[in-house]
Amino acid sequence: MIRFVTSNRGKFVEAQRLIEDLVQADLGYTEIQADTLEEVVLFGLKELSSRLNSPFIIEDAGLFIEALNGFPGVYSAYVQRTIGNSGILKLMDGVENRAASFRSVVGYAAPGMEPVLFKGELRGRIGFEARGAGGFGYDPIFEVDGRTLAEMDLAEKNMISHRGRSMKALKSWLESR
Ligand code: IMP
Repeated sequence: MIRFVTSNRGKFVEAQRLIEDLVQADLGYTEIQADTLEEVVLFGLKELSSRLNSPFIIEDAGLFIEALNGFPGVYSAYVQRTIGNSGILKLMDGVENRAASFRSVVGYAAPGMEPVLFKGELRGRIGFEARGAGGFGYDPIFEVDGRTLAEMDLAEKNMISHRGRSMKALKSWLESR
C-alpha cells in the first residue's frame, strides 16, 4: 500500500487507475512558492517524511503556456482559483501561438531511502472556449488534436497525459525493484 497525499480527488482517481495499490491521504503539506515543480515536490516529500513512516507519493502539476513565457506554471493552482479558465482565455485573446504543455512531477518517498522523482509532459494547445465536462482544472481549455482533455474519458486522458506518464514511470520503477 502506498499513500498518495493529495486533497485533489481528480488527481487521485487518475493515478489509482494506473497504480492500484494507491490509497488517498488528505493530510495537507506545505507547497512552497518556488521556480520549479521539482523544488515544490522535494520540499513536500521532506516535510511529510518526518510525519509518515510508510511509503507515500505526492505530485505537483502545472500548465505552461508558451506565449506567456510559461505562465501560470508553478502558479497554476493560484491562477485556477483566482481568474480560472475564463481568465486564461481572456489573457490569450488575440494570441496566435496557442502552444502549451502540462507537466507533472511525482515524488516517491519511503523510510530509509532517498526520495525519487518521476516526470511527465503533455504538449497541446489552449482552445478558444471551454469544452467538455470531464477531468478537472484546466482540462476544458487544453486541446490535443482538436479535442479538450475534458472531452476525453479517464482512460483516454491517462493514455496521453502528463500525470499518466509520470505515474507509469513510477509504476515501472516500482515493478523493477
Ligand atoms: P497542483 O499540482 O495541485 O498544484 O495543481 C496545479 C493546478 O493545475 C491546479 O489548479 C489543478 O487544478 C491544475 N491541474 C493539475 N493537473 C491538471 C490536469 O491534469 N488537468 C487540468 N488541470 C490540472
